[in-house]
Amino acid sequence: MTLILGLETSCDETAASVVENGVRVRSNVIATQHELHERYRGVVPEIASRAHLERLTPIVREALSQADSSWDELDAVAVGHRPGLIGSLLVGVSAAKAAAWALGKPIIGIDHVLAHLYAGQLEAPPVHYPAIGLVVSGGHTSLFEVQSPLDVTLLGKTIDDAVGEAFDKAATILEVGYPGGPAIDRIAREGNPNAHRFPIARLESDRLDFSFSGLKTALLYAVRGTPTGRRGEARFERSAGELTAQQRAHFAASFQAAAIKAVMRNLTRALDERPASTLLVGGGVSANSLLRAELDTLAGERGIDLRLPAPQFCVDNAAMIAGLAFERMRSGEVDDWSLAAQPASAVT
Ligand code: KG4
Ligand code: ZN
Repeated sequence: MTLILGLETSCDETAASVVENGVRVRSNVIATQHELHERYRGVVPEIASRAHLERLTPIVREALSQADSSWDELDAVAVGHRPGLIGSLLVGVSAAKAAAWALGKPIIGIDHVLAHLYAGQLEAPPVHYPAIGLVVSGGHTSLFEVQSPLDVTLLGKTIDDAVGEAFDKAATILEVGYPGGPAIDRIAREGNPNAHRFPIARLESDRLDFSFSGLKTALLYAVRGTPTGRRGEARFERSAGELTAQQRAHFAASFQAAAIKAVMRNLTRALDERPASTLLVGGGVSANSLLRAELDTLAGERGIDLRLPAPQFCVDNAAMIAGLAFERMRSGEVDDWSLAAQPASAVT
């Protein structure tokens, strides 16, 4: 039996988890910082790293206690060391190194994007490859060809905003709260997705790239009217506060329909062009109810195994970090003390 402690501090979740043999999640403790960033409508890096520093030790203790395991039983310590906010990553990497050093056990650095693709294997049967992978989060919107958990090739990604970021900005425009994805998802249920026609970018490229900034601007202008005045001091015709609940719901539903259609269109193309027996999905936006329904339908039509992780494995978590670390360890890939926090992913 191999027991790995995973740490995750790349953005605004402080998380620790103990995973057995890469798939059995013995504990999965997540502390979100949403309440700290809500008033700024986005993650403030300095606030995030300070909060990680305060919370990580109690979270790790809680993860070990829930897993009913002691430090001595651990075989390795894993940490999401890229991509993310550099200050936040540094907290996790430093803590993981200290723990691994003190225990005399290996340290394993994990790419957070690859970990999201691995999440569908947790508490689930083995995956058959090749697979197509989709990561949809606040920081990423990427499609991959996946030959194995550690062998992925990028097929396309967003050239501007990530889809989760677009949801968060849409929620700011509609003044419905933070984080925006869950709020838009909830409100959209009461609205008509055909009430407004929003643009879906078509990019002149052989790659399966995405763009969401035009959609966001279209929503802004539809809600508030065309701006006048100079840049930086634009004046709008209306404010979102003047919308009725029903109008707001129609905007949310129409925005969500366009955003999810953009994701599904490229995903369908990827599946048309490549053989795949499995569809791996990860990232916070995979909690979206419309996306989940569309993915279910697509996988049903094509007879492929859809790995849509349970909600606690969709959002940022450390179980996916510890799980993928088991794969790396099994392939003889461990890191040394030069492991560094890095802001960019190696695969996007
Ligand atoms: O993977 P994640 O927890 O963190 C990153 O790595 O970014 O994803 C967070 C993102 C946020 O943008 C949030 O608004 C979005 O996932 N999100 C959703 C939903 N739940 C979370 N977006 C759409 N619908 C949801 N139900
Ligand atoms: Zn993430």
